Amino acid sequence: MSVVLYPGSFDPFHLGHLDVVDQATKLFGEVIIGVMHNPEKSSASFSVEQRIAMIESSVSHLSSVTVRSFAGLAVDAAISCQALCIVKGLRTMSDFEVEQQMAQTNFTVSGVRTVYVPCSPAFGFISSRFIREIAHYGGDTSAMVPGAVATVLRNTYPQRSKK
Ligand code: PNS
Repeated sequence: MSVVLYPGSFDPFHLGHLDVVDQATKLFGEVIIGVMHNPEKSSASFSVEQRIAMIESSVSHLSSVTVRSFAGLAVDAAISCQALCIVKGLRTMSDFEVEQQMAQTNFTVSGVRTVYVPCSPAFGFISSRFIREIAHYGGDTSAMVPGAVATVLRNTYPQRSKK
């Protein structure tokens, strides 16, 4: 059994993320979900503390998963956790292009490897960006996020009245 780091923005955490976490626990054992401060995404909808709280509620049934925040580089976070590798989920070919560049850069600068987990087809279309956008306009995102996240989204954004 190994420890792996699953880093991301998780703004917010959705069912695709949960699927990757679930698969990673089965493959590796212990998963640390790393909520990264990403200066390039300064327009985050939720604070790191809010994101951690939502993720902790969503993974409370998985005893080998912990949630932490990290500033700086994902590879430094992986090294500080003594992680075997970084885990990333892959949905589409466009994900692959971005992730491959990051994985190769991360390996070159640190020797930390990345292992990809293919997202289950049922969740491959889900994206945090669209969840934020739909929630912002009062739409229903509950089919794409864990229950704890759906509750926070409902309480954060005014709901459209149902017809
Ligand atoms: O969920 P995201 O936004 O796709 O996750 C991207 C994230 C946070 C994993 C990536 O931006 C990251 O690793 N940020 C930490 C800074 C870092 O390590 N940069 C070097 C990338 S090669």
